[in-house]
This record gives sequence, C-alpha cells and structure tokens, in this order.
Amino acid sequence: MPRRIIIDCDPGIDDALALLYAARSPESQLDGVTVVAGNTTLPQAVSNALRVLDLAEGRHVPVYAGASEPLERRLQPSARIHGEDGLGDCGWPESSRESQTERAAQFLNHHGQKFGHETTLICLGPLTNIAQAIRSDPESMSRYQRLVIMGGAYRVGGNASPVAEHNFWTDPEAAQAVLEWRGTSIRLVGLDIVRTVLLTPNHRELLRQMNTKLTHWICSSTRYFLNAHWQVDRVLGCYLADPLAVAAALRPEWFDVQTYPASVAVDGLNRGQLLLDEYAQSPRQVPAGIEWCVEVNRREFMEDFLACLGPAQWTSKQVRRCLIGCSE
Ligand code: RIB
Ligand code: CA
Repeated sequence: MPRRIIIDCDPGIDDALALLYAARSPESQLDGVTVVAGNTTLPQAVSNALRVLDLAEGRHVPVYAGASEPLERRLQPSARIHGEDGLGDCGWPESSRESQTERAAQFLNHHGQKFGHETTLICLGPLTNIAQAIRSDPESMSRYQRLVIMGGAYRVGGNASPVAEHNFWTDPEAAQAVLEWRGTSIRLVGLDIVRTVLLTPNHRELLRQMNTKLTHWICSSTRYFLNAHWQVDRVLGCYLADPLAVAAALRPEWFDVQTYPASVAVDGLNRGQLLLDEYAQSPRQVPAGIEWCVEVNRREFMEDFLACLGPAQWTSKQVRRCLIGCSE
C-alpha cells in the first residue's frame, strides 16, 4: 500500500531529486508539494517544482506557494551550490502549469485536518511554512502521522556555518519552534548521516547511460552540483540530503534512530545549531524527543533511488548488476 506523503521543499537540486524519487516511487502517493524560499527565491522555487514534477511523468501533483522570507531573517539564497536558477543553470523546460491559489500553510492545515492521520509530511527546506502552519492551526498539524525533516548537524560541522546546517541556519526561529512543538513524532535526517552517502561519478554515468529525457536533465543539474561539492568540500560526488529524507519516510526500516530531546539555537554564532540532549534521562522521564537518524542501509537506498529515476520498470536488482564493478 503506497504511503501518502506531502513534501515541503525549496528546489534546489537535491530537492528536485527528492521530488522525482518520491513521485516515481511505487512506495509513495505524493498528494501535494508546498514550496518555501531557501536555496533560491520563492517564485523561482515554485517554477522549479512545477518543471521538475512535469518531467516526473505520472499524475499531476498540485504545488502550493508558501513563505518568501524566513520568519525573522533575510533570505540568503545559495546560488554557489544550486546555481542562479536553483537547478544548476542548465535550462530545465518551463512548465505550462501554475501553482494553486491556496497558500502553503493553509493547504498543510486543510490536508492535515482531512488526511493527516494517514500522511507523512516530509520537510526539505527551511521550516518557515511548517512553523506558520503550526501557529495557525496546531491541532490540524498534530494529525500528521509523522514529520520527517532534513536538517541539523550534531557531531559533524555545518554547511552554512561551522555549527549549522543550511535549512536550520536559514530560519532558526522556525526550526526551534517546530522541534520544540512536540505535536507529533519527528524523524530528523541530519548532515551526520547525509555525509555517509554520495552520488558518485559512477552513479552519474549509469544515469547518463540510462539515456532518458529525465536522466539527461538530472545529469545536467548534478554536473553543476558535483562541481560545487568539489569546490566547497573537495568531495568527488554529490550529497543527497533531501532524497535521503524521502527514503527515511518511505522506507523507515533502512534506518537506525536514537531518540533525544532536541532544540535549535537562534542567537549569534550558534545561529541554527542543533542541540541534542544525549545526557537526558530515559525518554520516559523527559518530554517526547525526536528520532535522530544514525545509520542507513546505503546500498538499499542508492539502488532504489537510481531505479526510481531510471526508465520505467527498472528495478534495484538491475541497478545492482550495472554497478557490480564499481566501488561504492
Ligand atoms: O543542508 C542541506 C539542505 O539545505 C538541503 O535541503 C538542501 O536542499 C538545502 O536546502
Ligand atoms: Ca532543500
């Protein structure tokens, strides 16, 4: 039975890969996409979500525009990592579709009221839309089965500051509000686990050899993304932060988690820093904590991810056979 999901995102190259993964996975029913400013401006992010979903094929997924600025800060897009247009400046075809008239926070409230009990909300950008939806109708948001959030860095350095991951750094007030809310269970996919999985040049070559219209655009965007990873991190590959969060929602059995009380710092040099209280007493004695992802079955994830992006009917087994000669 496919899992019903909603994705909130700021496309962004890895958001685009995550949208394609979710839209093409037989494990999911993507009922809607809400968009927030983050990697790029809101109008560009909305346009990118529509372009990417057009190429996903399958049924039309409605897109809802949300916050154009963080709750209390100025937006600072990351063109260096995602390009001026947010998709690696390679010219994805424009969509003829428009976003819905309903705003993102209102859609999240209405969908939560009606279908939250059977829906996982996956959050791939700054948590501005989510914080606004909780503020406007906390009861409807507590109806979601679970929130799966891409954000935070704990035992590793940040990517937006020495201590902060980009989504939490962009809107720390929203991240703090959501993590301290405790209205439903939260699973957190942070940089600690993200940095254990790479889309390698071999993986990109397999996508190129798959030779579909979609894999052509994926290869174009990930060329820009790989160059950015090399320039910033001297890493020969691309981290897949947002697709990993989709997998944490669709295939929870691939992940090991530990539960801790959590919050996010908002002031000064600690802006956006994730705080996990590993020294709290047993969960029974402290407010319900968040599930922090500590391990993932990397091979299962990568094979499933590449199979979903490939030609229709490709399986993980076929991907595994193609990669048999490649080191992980
Ligand atoms: O730190 C990684 C996160 O920031 C990802 O969601 C990426 O898309 C950027 O938004
Ligand atoms: Ca993102």
